[in-house]
Amino acid sequence: MDNATRLQYLEAMGIDVWVPRFSADHEPASAPDAIADSAPPSELIDSWEALQAEVAPCTQCDLCKTRIQTVFGSGNKNAGWMFIGEGPGQSEDQQGLPFVGKAGQLLTEMLRAIGLDREEVFIANIVKCRPPANRDPTPVEIESCKPYLLRQLTLVKPKIIVVLGRVAAQALLNTDEPIGKLRGQIRALNGTPLVVVYHPAYLLRSLLDKRKAWADLKLAMQTVKNIKG
Ligand code: URA
Repeated sequence: MDNATRLQYLEAMGIDVWVPRFSADHEPASAPDAIADSAPPSELIDSWEALQAEVAPCTQCDLCKTRIQTVFGSGNKNAGWMFIGEGPGQSEDQQGLPFVGKAGQLLTEMLRAIGLDREEVFIANIVKCRPPANRDPTPVEIESCKPYLLRQLTLVKPKIIVVLGRVAAQALLNTDEPIGKLRGQIRALNGTPLVVVYHPAYLLRSLLDKRKAWADLKLAMQTVKNIKG
């Protein structure tokens, strides 16, 4: 992407000017899976196929009664960056893909601003089914669905996790700290660095916090850069 185009994405995010000192780092589109000699028996190894086959017909919680379809997640299954939202909205429920509505458009712009395409990151949600009327998922819904996300994280093995919004951040970090405290610093989940960023749907309403979101994205970029050394 040329600099002029990137500046356009930054403008769309409400950021005036940004001159990058380094470029975002990420995995190639397809890294081969390495299988060690001492690998456990195949029936103990999780796979995308097994996980997808479990998620698609899931009836673990009552959200299955109102959903059109489950929204598994999408993107590069070997991504260096994994983005985690709260749960599907109406457009996502209809299309079966995460972040395809208005908030998704802003997420795409945020990704482009740090030099990433949607196809090269993996995007998923805490809950795989739309909560009715876009309410927050309940603790019971979160706890029944979270194992799917943790398995996705184990399969992707990202370098960094970016968590979008309070609900996802509190659920993943098992905390009730407010998002104002959770953002702005590097956390970790099972040894993987994790950065909390305001949810794009919130940023659509709260222009002032876009600057903080941009600072958090830069923190995530710097974190990935530091991992490479
Ligand atoms: N909001 C989310 O948290 N996830 C989506 O997939 C869409 C909107």
